[in-house]
Amino acid sequence: MATKVLIVDYSWSGTTAKLATALQQVTGGTKVDLTVAAGTFPNDMYATNDVAGEQLASGKLPELTNTLPDLTAFDVILVGGPVWSAQVATPVRTFMKQLQGFTGTVAPFYTDAGTPGTYEQDFASLITSATVARGVGMTAGDLANAQDRLSTWWENFK
Ligand SMILES: Cc1cc2nc3c(=O)[nH]c(=O)nc-3n(C[C@H](O)[C@H](O)[C@H](O)COP(=O)(O)O)c2cc1C
Repeated sequence: MATKVLIVDYSWSGTTAKLATALQQVTGGTKVDLTVAAGTFPNDMYATNDVAGEQLASGKLPELTNTLPDLTAFDVILVGGPVWSAQVATPVRTFMKQLQGFTGTVAPFYTDAGTPGTYEQDFASLITSATVARGVGMTAGDLANAQDRLSTWWENFK
C-alpha cells in the first residue's frame, strides 16, 4: 500500500515554501501551507524574532488561519518551517500541538541562514506520540540544486 504523505509548512519569507513544493514533487504527498492572520508578525526579521520570543514566553502561540485535513488519514507527516533562533517557529509549534496522539512517522524539514543549531532536537522534543525520523534542512542557496538530495533523503526514509 502506498504511503500517504502530508506536507505541512509555515514560511515567513517564502524559502521553506519552496522546499515544501520540492518535497511535494518528490513524495507525491498532499501539501498544506500554514497561515497566520495578517499582522501577526512584523516585516522585520529582528522584530519578528522578538514577537516569537514573547509568544514562547507567554505560551500564547499564534493561531493558524487554515483548515487542516484529518491527520489520522496519513502515515507520514513532514513538518516544515524556518529556523528561528535555532528553534521551531511559533506557527509550526501551533500545528505540532495537533500532532499529539498521532502515531505515524513525523519528520522535520527546515530552511535556515546557515546555523540551524539544535533545531532538530527542539523539533523532536515537541513530539509526544509519533515516531520522529531524521529531517532535512538547507539554506536558500542550496535549494536550487536540492532535487537529488531530496530524492535520496526520501528513498532512505521510506
Ligand atoms: C525570526 C527569525 C529568526 C531566525 N533565526 C535563525 C537562526 O537561528 N539560524 C539561522 O540560520 N537562520 C535564522 N533565520 C533565518 C531563516 O531561518 C532563513 O532565512 C529561512 O530560510 C527563512 O525561511 P522562510 O522564508 O520560509 O521564512 C531567522 C529568521 C527569522 C525571521
